[in-house]
Amino acid sequence: MLKIIHVSDTHVVPAGQSVVGIDPHERLRQVVDAINENHDDAALCVITGDLTDRGDEESYRAFADLVSELKIPYRLLVGNHDNRQNFRRVFTDAPVDADGFVQSTADFDKVRLIFLDSLHDNHAGLGQLCLSRLKWFEAAVKDAARTGRRSVIFIHHPPFSVGVKVFEGMMLENAEPFLSQITANKPLHLAFGHLHLTTSGSWNGIPFSCNRGVAHQIVLNFEGVVTEFIEAVPTFAVMLISENSVLVHHAAPVATSDIIAREYATDDGKGNLVMTR
Ligand SMILES: [Fe+2]
Ligand SMILES: [Fe+2]
Repeated sequence: MLKIIHVSDTHVVPAGQSVVGIDPHERLRQVVDAINENHDDAALCVITGDLTDRGDEESYRAFADLVSELKIPYRLLVGNHDNRQNFRRVFTDAPVDADGFVQSTADFDKVRLIFLDSLHDNHAGLGQLCLSRLKWFEAAVKDAARTGRRSVIFIHHPPFSVGVKVFEGMMLENAEPFLSQITANKPLHLAFGHLHLTTSGSWNGIPFSCNRGVAHQIVLNFEGVVTEFIEAVPTFAVMLISENSVLVHHAAPVATSDIIAREYATDDGKGNLVMTR
């Protein structure tokens, strides 16, 4: 079983600054510590974009300092809050495709992870997969099938509506060619961020999941036109992947002091409950 950690929307800013009144550094630090403590057996940590809030070099350096503490390897995607040039200036070793987009693959036995770059060149919210990126994706997903691997796709932007009005103008622009390709190639799973919501389901038979991320999160509101931000616990997802199944557990950092009771299994099924407070 392949264990992958999915982190998203860290929105890091230069040290000492905040985003909507909260400190993204401290929140990412908590998530990194939780991964190191409980999931250092994972093969990879994938961070699906909005790595920084403003896309400046100083923020990428602060982000790099934080993720360098991870005990496991990591792969980074860019989102609408990112800046590809500044990202590449700081992460000089990050894999990119032949046209310089932050796209790559990672193969693990019968599974291929595909990482896409949906950063739009001319819009602050929308996502984009231009012809060049789509061609790269088509080759990557077809090569996975040719070599007997199932694909799991990671991308910042959802390519279809999730029924939340404020996101309707911030989805993947002109998604039809990408949707046609995933319909034809039947990936095992599609994982994204961007929503700052925990959302999962299936589209046209393709399962998907979105982790609500590390930084600020939003109130689920289908029809509202104002985005309401909240400070809830930072989160990440633990994905357990085989060639024919994907499990997604949504997790959060937990301190020992958070545990209020322990129930020990007994043969009669009733359990033995011991309070810790
Ligand atoms: Fe975000
Ligand atoms: Fe985003």
